[in-house]
Amino acid sequence: MSATVVVGLQWGDEGKGKIIDSLCEGFDAVARFNGGSNAGHTVVVGGNKFAFHLLPSGVLQGKKLLIGNGVVVDPEILLKELDEVASLNLTPDLLVSDRAHLTLGPHKFRDRLEEGRRGAAAVGTTMRGISPTFADRALRAGVRAGDLLDDESLKSAFETFASLNRALISGVYGEDGDAIVKDSMDRVKELAPRLRQYVGDVSKAANDLLDRKGKLLLEGAQGYYLDIDYGTYPYVTATHTTASYAPAGIGIPSQRIEEVIGVIKAYCTRVGSGPFITEMGGQAEEALRRKGNEYGATTGRPRRIGWLDAAATRYAAKASGVTSLALTKVDVLGGLDRVSVCDGYIDGSSLRMEPPSTISALRRCKPHYLEFEGWPDLSPEAWRKLGEGGISALPKNALEFARSVEELVGVRVRYVSYGPDRIDLKELK
Ligand code: IMP
Ligand code: MG
Repeated sequence: MSATVVVGLQWGDEGKGKIIDSLCEGFDAVARFNGGSNAGHTVVVGGNKFAFHLLPSGVLQGKKLLIGNGVVVDPEILLKELDEVASLNLTPDLLVSDRAHLTLGPHKFRDRLEEGRRGAAAVGTTMRGISPTFADRALRAGVRAGDLLDDESLKSAFETFASLNRALISGVYGEDGDAIVKDSMDRVKELAPRLRQYVGDVSKAANDLLDRKGKLLLEGAQGYYLDIDYGTYPYVTATHTTASYAPAGIGIPSQRIEEVIGVIKAYCTRVGSGPFITEMGGQAEEALRRKGNEYGATTGRPRRIGWLDAAATRYAAKASGVTSLALTKVDVLGGLDRVSVCDGYIDGSSLRMEPPSTISALRRCKPHYLEFEGWPDLSPEAWRKLGEGGISALPKNALEFARSVEELVGVRVRYVSYGPDRIDLKELK
């Protein structure tokens, strides 16, 4: 045993990066198992803000870093992040799975073309080429990190990749695919000598570490409701975001997972299109967006904001085997008279307790709310000062809110976070 998974139970941006950075002291390695550079994991240390898209959030703690086969890797972004951390005098001990697929120029180009083609029905992707990379993987036309280690295998991967991407870009989208495909292959060859040193067998490394009684933290990207099956399809990302994908995306047995920490914000946000039952709208939303700095870490887009959906969280926590919750950004809700939490969905004359699987049914549903008394609006310094007095020194109604969430979701709230820095976090006993 001794692998812990941290996943988001909403639409991403729950504060996983911060929770991982705060918790990873007791771990030997931090691994990413899904998504790609669409993720934006923000970590704040000593007032300095870092946003990582591919490097696991343990990077600033000098942990061993693993990027599993379940991740799609954009070599340009990976090397850029490595340069950034090098400028902080950190030399990450990084291993990228030889089975991880590479996101290349034509994937990013196709992401834009496909979103454009869909017009009003666009998913609102991050334009990072994620779904075309996963599509090429499924079409058996991908280029994998391990191909960089073997000229013959790179040559043959390039052949299938080039022929499919040329055909799609010119045949489907009517653009000239030749140049972009050729440029991307030249670029991979140029970057290969630098990338090779990081590529290897992540599954073996992770299993060896666990056999030696090492502790592994598995970092999920995005959130439960962006999962390709369990999210609000088709307004989802291109892969799995659930805790149960963690072992598959890194190459360890599922029995190794001892703990699953589900991260939720005290309210909900989502970027991109798709149904959002508890969306607030109006001035309340705008005020929270500014206060909580709710703008995409990857795209800068304003995030849509809604009340906490405890029914959706309960469903996600149950299916993910969540053993404890981390509740973030309770400070941001401070200053409201009343705080709403959705505990079910009104569908005509019936009350549903689980989110429906289709977006048309979701659009029909109205949230059923419970209301809680608010807590004061305090400065970040005031929150920190209160936190220094221990968990029970935090505002009473904020703690009661945490207890109610615990009851509604059916899983204990173990951590309460009330500021962006790694120290603004307390364990709820
Ligand atoms: P894609 O993953 O770029 O294909 O985007 C699909 C959907 O997932 C869009 O609604 C994106 O905004 C959303 N998404 C992808 N990654 C993240 C993330 O890390 N945080 C929040 N939303 C994300
Ligand atoms: Mg994010």
